[in-house]
Amino acid sequence: MLVLGIESSCDETAAALLEDGHRVLSNVVASQIETHRGFGGVVPELASREHLRNICYVVNRAFADARRRREDIDGIAVTQGPGLIGSLLVGLSFAKAMAFTLNKPLVPVNHIEGHICSAFIEHPEISYPVLALVVSGGHTSLILSPAPGKYQPVGRTRDDAAGEALDKLAKFLGLGYPGGPVIDRLAQRGDPRKFSFSIPKISDGSLDFSFSGFKTAALRHIEQAGIRVHRPGGRVSRQILDLVASYQLAIVQTLVAQTRKAAKRLRPRSILLVGGVACNSLLRRTFRGTFESRGTEGEAGASGAGCAEETHVYFPSPSLTTDNAAMIAAAGTPKLSAGGALQLDLNAYADLRLC
Ligand code: KG4
Ligand code: ZN
Repeated sequence: MLVLGIESSCDETAAALLEDGHRVLSNVVASQIETHRGFGGVVPELASREHLRNICYVVNRAFADARRRREDIDGIAVTQGPGLIGSLLVGLSFAKAMAFTLNKPLVPVNHIEGHICSAFIEHPEISYPVLALVVSGGHTSLILSPAPGKYQPVGRTRDDAAGEALDKLAKFLGLGYPGGPVIDRLAQRGDPRKFSFSIPKISDGSLDFSFSGFKTAALRHIEQAGIRVHRPGGRVSRQILDLVASYQLAIVQTLVAQTRKAAKRLRPRSILLVGGVACNSLLRRTFRGTFESRGTEGEAGASGAGCAEETHVYFPSPSLTTDNAAMIAAAGTPKLSAGGALQLDLNAYADLRLC
């Protein structure tokens, strides 16, 4: 089965051709980072316009890279939400028009389900029940998937998403956008024990997250210690290096602690680390160290966290971790196999839930 995936929920216009759910024939992503960099974050109106400008090129390129014709596809999978409504509508409208012209089935995909399915592209052997930590710029959730296509959210952030917390501190310190990869790089030169952030205790025993306290503590520290904002072109100060290393460590410790608690309680067979922040090198390392006793990146390993006898941990490759359309095609493939229709009345939803 050959599926065209289309993704446009935030600031990446993406199209991919995926064969039988596992062979990525093409995976094209047009990033809008340069458009939004000067604003330190995504400007929704500019994002919609950029999607409009890029979508034809990106989809054409996906077919050219895969050396396939439009008629070859068995169906289209498109992101329906959650995300920026103007951005979602560009991808959805394009997908509807294309499905209509080609007379092919079209299925809607939840962006979060796409992130979860990203892990299955390279690892068809993943066994259920699955516990997924979805950690990105817009989302931080723990989701239990007892069987394919079934999802039970078990924990979520009560304020900022983890990626948002990284992006906001980087913006405040003048380190650039998006902040996650910059902090990942700079933190390697800083002392993560220099500044200690107290990890919030969520007292009701829930599996939720909270990151906004770290941001407040960091801003207070910047003010009290008189840390100067970074000027482009200059050297990043020792104080900034230590602060971002300590901040990143606090975020990683929070993510790992809640995932470990969830794993002990829910006893999954597989743990997935997905979404843009899953690219973070410290998070990957710590996940591996906590939940695996052997295995390497992109490979499975037996659990060392004492959660279940046979728990394995999976990370997608970086190109499948940040927003992409191969993951949307992966989530759409079983829906199309089950008999998708040409749904021309589909709408996009900014706050679409996964259930
Ligand atoms: O999944 P994604 O591409 O888009 C959303 O669905 O939000 O995730 C983007 C987020 C941004 O917050 C970005 O700063 C973060 O992922 N990110 C990282 C790294 N690479 C991307 N955060 C930490 N370390 C990284 N290496
Ligand atoms: Zn995403």
